[in-house]
Amino acid sequence: MSERTPVSYLREGAVAFIEIDNPPVNALSAAVRQGLADAVARLADDPDARIAVLFCAGRTFIAGADISEFGKPPVPPFLPDVIAMIEASEKPVVAALHGTVLGGGLEVALGAHHRVALPGTRMGLPEVTLGLLPGAGGTQRLPRAIGLEAAIDLITSGRQIGAEEALTLGLIDALAKDTDARAAGDAAARRLLAEGRGPRRLSEADAPTVPSAGVEALRSTLARSARGQVAPLRALDTIVEGLAMPFAEGMAHERRAFMDLMQTPERAGLVHAFFAERRAAQQDDLTGVSPRRVDRIGIIGGGTMGQGIAAAALTAGLDVTLVERDDAAADKAAAGIGRMLEGAVKRGKLAADARERMLGQSFRAVASYDTLADADLVIEAVFENLEAKQEVFRTLGRVCRPGAVLATNTSYLDVNLIAEASGRPQDVIGLHFFSPANVMRLLEIVVADRTAPDVVATAFALARRMNKIGVRSGVCDGFIGNRMMLAYRTAADHMVLDGASPYEIDQAIVALGFPMGPYQVGDLAGLDIGHATRQRKAPTREPRERVPVFADRLVEAGRLGRKTGRGYYIYDDQTPQGRPDPEMAGALDGLRSELGIAPRRFAPEDIQARYMAAMVNEGAKILDEGIAARASDIDVVLLHGYGFPRWKGGPMHWADAQGLDRIAADIARFAQDDPYFWQVSPLLARLAAKGGTLADVNTGKDAT
Ligand code: 3HC
Ligand code: NAI
Repeated sequence: MSERTPVSYLREGAVAFIEIDNPPVNALSAAVRQGLADAVARLADDPDARIAVLFCAGRTFIAGADISEFGKPPVPPFLPDVIAMIEASEKPVVAALHGTVLGGGLEVALGAHHRVALPGTRMGLPEVTLGLLPGAGGTQRLPRAIGLEAAIDLITSGRQIGAEEALTLGLIDALAKDTDARAAGDAAARRLLAEGRGPRRLSEADAPTVPSAGVEALRSTLARSARGQVAPLRALDTIVEGLAMPFAEGMAHERRAFMDLMQTPERAGLVHAFFAERRAAQQDDLTGVSPRRVDRIGIIGGGTMGQGIAAAALTAGLDVTLVERDDAAADKAAAGIGRMLEGAVKRGKLAADARERMLGQSFRAVASYDTLADADLVIEAVFENLEAKQEVFRTLGRVCRPGAVLATNTSYLDVNLIAEASGRPQDVIGLHFFSPANVMRLLEIVVADRTAPDVVATAFALARRMNKIGVRSGVCDGFIGNRMMLAYRTAADHMVLDGASPYEIDQAIVALGFPMGPYQVGDLAGLDIGHATRQRKAPTREPRERVPVFADRLVEAGRLGRKTGRGYYIYDDQTPQGRPDPEMAGALDGLRSELGIAPRRFAPEDIQARYMAAMVNEGAKILDEGIAARASDIDVVLLHGYGFPRWKGGPMHWADAQGLDRIAADIARFAQDDPYFWQVSPLLARLAAKGGTLADVNTGKDAT
């Protein structure tokens, strides 16, 4: 049987239709590149063809190069050559665009001689978000099409634009009214033929001139925003330098830069993040399991989380009933949700009439559980207290219809114990949203011992509908994310006990690429939270466990962080983002001598090594225990919930890139001082010994 070709050529009268059909997103695999090259050759040889329409089957025009080929040896024909062939065609080629025309897809369109798009088409060059720059003429042709400033903006930001903006910028020639790309291309082709137009090549257009002062200003802005990333600045340089050269040299210059970036760890990290996010939704045990239908949801508790979840659910088109303790609390929650949606309207994310409709027709805040009788799914977000949650679930078990999904937003508590209270544990699951829930995309889906498979499937479907990234976790204290956070926070606290200042730690962690260090995060969240957890756990504390007494002292002194104007940092009108407290060093020294600790210095690299080793070690334990099914799921949690720098791919990817033997050796060294905290994960030790990687565990290749 011959292999199905992803590119077909069909002529009708004078018009040749070149169709790409490579689901799901028509990525430019080697077969597509070859198919395109063959089709262009056939166009030249076809005596009856006078013009061609290039279009795609399925949900989108080409969404870019095939990312799964990155990091592997390139296979000819190469995309820039294929695009050069299209552009060189003596017969005009019309690109008919729909869906998401991204990266190499847009570069193919720029190689065509005429571009028409369906309404709703989105376009962009997102290569920098993958640690790359456009490598098939984007840095050369886009500035020639839309001017320097707009091209630099699109290429260095990677942002997508809609068809209207593309028309205004001159990126497309026409916005079709059709809903069918082939028909739109056909109409445009016939118009061009009637007008007797020939090919119009961007490579032959004049390059825009580059004003050096403007570029310098842009450079310094980008240097600040790009932080640890090399691609945006390299893209800027490549555009500017390339435009000063003849087109062919500019293309070669671009290709060199593209291939250089392909070799960087940033590119590997960003591509890993891209696939890890998509892999998280793949659950082998749910194949063939249909999710339960969810249209109406209930939310119990309208505090910080309940409000955010309600706003996110309404925005996703769900009907929401929020239950609070009394009418006053219900009104307060409703007002908060109204403000959140108003904020979305102000930011242009939501239409004002849509907000009115949501609040008027799809939302109610009440003080009675009876209203939940017909809810399809209920999310509990009351205080973090087991008895309070069990009481709520007892009530839900009574009032909700059979088959309704009952979810808890608990951060740490045992979902099994909450599930039992409902009397129908098969319907219960953890849905751990992150704050602010209407903004943060992470959703930990906590599967308890008796959760039914179709309830898990329902949770993943809900995540997708709410535009969240669902990651599956088993039940343990803190699930994946908060358990990891506790580990690296503890490592940081130990360093402070032993001589580091919280400011040194924060600086070293920000230098790794995190937006904030752990003590800045602590001040933001409120220091009372960690204090309360320590109090709760004190009776069962292991004697060898080291307690961050300094943190408790701050809380006892009423220094709760930002909300009291003072925590680790001082927050006031002059320094709303906080400044170090000059009294901190003295207070810490006093405490250390009280505890009999001789302080020592920690270099930034020491701080980073301990912080990361603690994170990776805990991640390996989580993987080994089956709390996370694969290392990449852990990466997604840290990337989307804890500010882990995306271009490092996540802690598990980072660990593999560093070499697990090095990390295991670090842990063994740290354990000499504190063998209780630094217990190496057996999985990490095994993989380190045999030269394996945590990613191997993803695919079950780790047979140990
Ligand atoms: N290469 C390979 N696979 C791709 C892909 C690509 N460019 N884009 C998407 N896919 C795969 C996804 O991995 C996913 O696979 P799965 O079903 O096995 O998990 C499937 O296609 C569907 O993707 P999504 O789940 O993301 O579907 P959405 O409808 O939510 O989004 C999209 C579609 C907007 C196209 C989104 O997938 C996307 O942004 N893709 C990446 C686009 C991109 O970055 N292109 C530039 C590539 S770099 C380049 O072109 C270099 C050039 O300059 C030389
Ligand atoms: P919160 O204190 O802001 O809100 C709790 C709300 O629940 C209050 O408005 C209270 O009136 C209401 N409530 C209490 N008992 C109730 C009952 N029996 N019936 C109806 N309403 C009741 O708390 P927050 O921060 O929203 O947290 C809620 C849950 O979400 C907790 O389990 C917490 O651990 C979890 N969580 C919190 C995050 C955060 O950053 N705040 C992040 C992720 C999860």
